[in-house]
Amino acid sequence: MNSPPDDHPHLLSRFFDSWNRLFPSGGLLCLGALWVAIVSGIVLALPYDMTKPYDSLQVILIANPAGAFFRAIHYWSADLFLIFASWHLIEQLSRRGEQEVPKGIWLRLVLSIPFILYVMISGFILKGDREGTLARQVLGGLLGTVPVVAKTIRFITLGLPDNLSVIYLHHIATSTLVILIISIEHARRIWPEWRSFIYMLSLSVILSAFKIPSLHDGLNPVVKGPWYMLGLQEVLHWTSYPGWILAFGALVLLLLYGLPFMPVPWSQQIKRGMLLLLVLYLALIIVGWLFRGANWQWVTPWARP
Ligand code: HEM
Repeated sequence: MNSPPDDHPHLLSRFFDSWNRLFPSGGLLCLGALWVAIVSGIVLALPYDMTKPYDSLQVILIANPAGAFFRAIHYWSADLFLIFASWHLIEQLSRRGEQEVPKGIWLRLVLSIPFILYVMISGFILKGDREGTLARQVLGGLLGTVPVVAKTIRFITLGLPDNLSVIYLHHIATSTLVILIISIEHARRIWPEWRSFIYMLSLSVILSAFKIPSLHDGLNPVVKGPWYMLGLQEVLHWTSYPGWILAFGALVLLLLYGLPFMPVPWSQQIKRGMLLLLVLYLALIIVGWLFRGANWQWVTPWARP
């Protein structure tokens, strides 16, 4: 059923309209970035050794310029994928797009969100450096708060401690395949149009020319998670009940899934609330990025040594 046309398209929809007149849509760019991440990930997997992750990445960074370059492409395209996946979701919600998607596909799209987060964090863990190890501990701690099945879920998602094989398997195969299949079903195309692929590849190459992602040297006392998790890291420092964070995440997913089934005024209110939460979360990312130092101490950027 088509939703009634919006007589007064608000600021967000007008922004997306202007963008789409000039560039490919967020959805196509997201699919483009996904393919760049998959292809660069396959190339990166050749020199990467999951039994010696840190050492193999050090060797790549020092002695294998092509490998370091593909690693950077993988890193940046993955970030672009996350950004444009969020962009696409916001654009569709701003146009009541959830009403247009068949309900089964909507369910799978909502369920793909934890897989997207998992593929991003598992990649970060695969670095095998101090930051990756911390991210693994934090994720393990969070999953440990799930009632009854904590151990099973932790084992299925993270495998045995001191062993990356399960995380590696889910990163390169399970979660990548789930995301790819859901994306193909939703977009009704396997390959993004060439323009989106070239845009995402070129942007990844340009960003890689500016910054090759490094590894934590193990000496720097500042240890942080990936940028998109810095807000969560901040919240984790406020609460002694991290289980609430998982419960809250599950509630957000449930509300998102429920949007097309609600009366429009309700869903509009919930979307406004979610947008506000997103803005607050972005502010927390900035706090974690710029204002936190060793042991998560408050440090102003201008007071940094
Ligand atoms: C949905 C697609 C994928 C996404 C979004 C993704 C994302 C990521 C991210 C964010 C990292 C961390 C990079 C860093 O912090 O340095 C990473 C690492 C890695 N990814 Fe992927 N990945 C994807 C698919 C793949 C595939 C298909 C493979 C291989 C077949 C792969 C192989 C690797 C390897 C070996 C690493 C660890 C080395 C490193 O840190 O550079 N990825 N991935």
